[in-house]
Amino acid sequence: MDAPNYICYCDKVTEEDIREAIRGGASTVAEVIRVTGAMRHCDCKVKNPKGT
Ligand code: FES
Repeated sequence: MDAPNYICYCDKVTEEDIREAIRGGASTVAEVIRVTGAMRHCDCKVKNPKGT
């Protein structure tokens, strides 16, 4: 099994999670963030492979 393709590493939100939020009716970035829980526990310097 492939490793998850995280878009938000800190909250383990995948591209598929974002697609599912949109299919569920999220129509703005703010709604996608609210539905997926992305960017709630920001520790990007440690958890994001880009280190930013
Ligand atoms: S990668 Fe999403 S908050 Fe850090």
